[in-house]
Amino acid sequence: MSENNVIGIDNSLPWHLSGDLKRFKAITTGHQIVMGRKTYESIGKPLPNRVNFVLTRNSDLKIDGVHVISSLNDISDSDKKTFIIGGGEIYSQLIDSCDELLVTKIHREIHGDAFFPMIDASVWSLVDQSEKLNENDIEFSYLTYRKI
Ligand SMILES: NC(=O)c1ccc[n+]([C@@H]2O[C@H](COP(=O)([O-])OP(=O)(O)OC[C@H]3O[C@@H](n4cnc5c(N)ncnc54)[C@H](OP(=O)(O)O)[C@@H]3O)[C@@H](O)[C@H]2O)c1
Repeated sequence: MSENNVIGIDNSLPWHLSGDLKRFKAITTGHQIVMGRKTYESIGKPLPNRVNFVLTRNSDLKIDGVHVISSLNDISDSDKKTFIIGGGEIYSQLIDSCDELLVTKIHREIHGDAFFPMIDASVWSLVDQSEKLNENDIEFSYLTYRKI
């Protein structure tokens, strides 16, 4: 997310950071990922080597290679670690259910229409922060928060 909590615009990402995408792949591969229907549409296909869950209120929706669910209670195979991967609506509803937040912080304000919720400092402790990285003239860092 950007300094002003933007995570998306026009149902796509406002930036392209290949290092961040590679890190996302490395962290989530082999695990379960949960996303909103709009994020799934922006990606356009199931992400390989991960169990893909898509949240929707549309009980008719069927997608090959994806578990379409209407509630987190529908997630099976709870032996696997579960990553909530967006977008804004889903982050807002599920942030309180998470133990850890893995945030890529873009060090500038960006215009957008999808947002990460405010991270409440009385709930979340910043436990790790990478050095500032730079790609395509965009400065960013990786932050890890744990629930207090
Ligand atoms: N920067 C990042 O890390 C990042 C990560 C992911 C996404 N994004 C961006 O975020 C944007 C998309 O976010 P968004 O907030 O617009 O949409 P979203 O959270 O991806 O999906 C919203 C949809 O999820 C379903 N949904 C929401 N709450 C639900 C519930 N309680 N039960 C069942 N289904 C529920 C609904 O689908 P139905 O309408 O089908 O019922 C809703 O329309 C895009 O711009 C995307 O590129 C950014």
